[in-house]
Amino acid sequence: MEVRDLRNVKEASLEFAPGLNVLVGRNAQGKTSLLEAVGLLARGRSFRTEDTETLIRRGAGVLRARGTATAPDRRTCLEVEIAPGTRRLRVDGREVPPREYHGRLEVVVYSTDRLRVVRGPMRERRQFLDRSGSALWPAYRQTVRDFERVLGQRNAALEAGARDLDTWNERFVELGARLRDRRASYVERLRVALRHGFHPEGERYDVVLVPAPLAGGVEAERPRLVAEMEGRRRDEGRTRRSLVGPHRDEVLLLVDGEEAGVAASSGQARSLLLALALATLEVYRQETGSAAVALLDDLDSELDEARATELCREVSRRGQALVTTAHAGWARRLADGGRLFEVEAGEVRAA
Ligand SMILES: Nc1ncnc2c1ncn2[C@@H]1O[C@H](COP(=O)(O)OP(=O)(O)OP(=O)(O)O)[C@@H](O)[C@H]1O
Ligand SMILES: [Mg+2]
Repeated sequence: MEVRDLRNVKEASLEFAPGLNVLVGRNAQGKTSLLEAVGLLARGRSFRTEDTETLIRRGAGVLRARGTATAPDRRTCLEVEIAPGTRRLRVDGREVPPREYHGRLEVVVYSTDRLRVVRGPMRERRQFLDRSGSALWPAYRQTVRDFERVLGQRNAALEAGARDLDTWNERFVELGARLRDRRASYVERLRVALRHGFHPEGERYDVVLVPAPLAGGVEAERPRLVAEMEGRRRDEGRTRRSLVGPHRDEVLLLVDGEEAGVAASSGQARSLLLALALATLEVYRQETGSAAVALLDDLDSELDEARATELCREVSRRGQALVTTAHAGWARRLADGGRLFEVEAGEVRAA
């Protein structure tokens, strides 16, 4: 990867190892910014901010990132160029629109602010599932979009007391049932990967959907959703909102059978989040045959050394990971298994 004028990085060139890569440096030297650059190459946008222009180094006009993604059977050159008001994406030198750019390099991000998936409101957990499932299955993504649209339309019809509510109800049931079914299939895959993946100290991690999925798939979900809506018809008439459906379903994250948001310690919540990140990677690998890259920021904060080491071992067995840490001793101990980069004032040196 080559980066120019991204945050405090003026110019950097890194050749990552296929397994574990550790970026070490004191605070505010540019470690996260370099992960952000990889994320930018993968997604065309930052995982830290919606406002892409803030990535341009102060005083510079254009940010440029270029990287080569390698899979067993192909190499792809990815380029992102950002200037105020413009964003250019290129694949193998050819400029492409965003929707053609995506899908060539997949990353899974772990960072402290992702803890909101564990500790935040239910919406975060639903979103986590729907987004990672969508990255895997285009049909899932389409179902999410279609459902959101019909939800908006049905709410508007409820709000207006419209006569065509029945039409929206039908669409709502159809798409709601499909979304529940997709979510359930994805969760099933994640649970298997969680069971066989990273679980320090023998901890058990699990994802549970409420209501529990029905064995009959979409066919069974339809009548159930109809019944749920029937049961809340009065409330919906009063509040003029859709009160049941996949946008209200619960997603529970459990550590040893207890809800993590309520019961887990800081280290456990982080371990769970990391286990989820790895399970996502594993399912992605099984489905697509190619590995996604794990971007693990401040990996060791609040993880004890045993957990962090086990995690790194687990990650590098399964694919490529870029890990940042501010702790030099810890980084060096890990370095046996991978490649170490020192980051200082926006400059990178392979150690
Ligand atoms: N657009 C920008 N132009 C120049 N510098 C910037 C820009 N945006 C952020 N920075 C600076 O880049 C530096 C590196 O930030 P980064 O988040 O990469 O640090 P870090 O090494 O991950 O630190 P920590 O260990 O604290 O997480 C910070 O000092 C930040 O203020
Ligand atoms: Mg950082």
